[in-house]
Amino acid sequence: MRLLVANGPNLNLLGVREPELYGRATYGDLVKFVNRVAAECGVEVEVRQSNHEGDLVDWIQECPGKFDALVLNAAAYTHTSVAILDAIKAVRVRTAEVHLTEPKEREEFRRISYVGMVAEWTFSGRGFESYADAIRHFAEVLS
Ligand code: DQA
Repeated sequence: MRLLVANGPNLNLLGVREPELYGRATYGDLVKFVNRVAAECGVEVEVRQSNHEGDLVDWIQECPGKFDALVLNAAAYTHTSVAILDAIKAVRVRTAEVHLTEPKEREEFRRISYVGMVAEWTFSGRGFESYADAIRHFAEVLS
């Protein structure tokens, strides 16, 4: 089974970005963590990050035939991007929404999730463990 783990804007700044919310571990640490959990689950994984909405749309469109499922932390685009919502609907890739924090417990504007409208599952509020929850979940339901 092949998973795409796609990360949106500002997640490349993990470690320096609002550490009181996101912690001190870096994006590189996140990539290592995801690779380790995927290996433990016997899942092939590709981890990507972009600050650009169109890249995320392109990657979603790439999924059919290449990836069995998508683990997506669209970051701020979660709360704004109809384009990402439409892309997931268009290619019908099985999607898990992930967040390091719990957006619903933060500012009002983070309560809307366009990704959540099409994701089959949401894993949030557990730091890196949110990604592990999503990978383990796919390993279980898709094996
Ligand atoms: C985030 C939550 C979003 O609201 C925020 O814009 C992010 C990160 C998270 O992982 O907690 O950039 O997706």
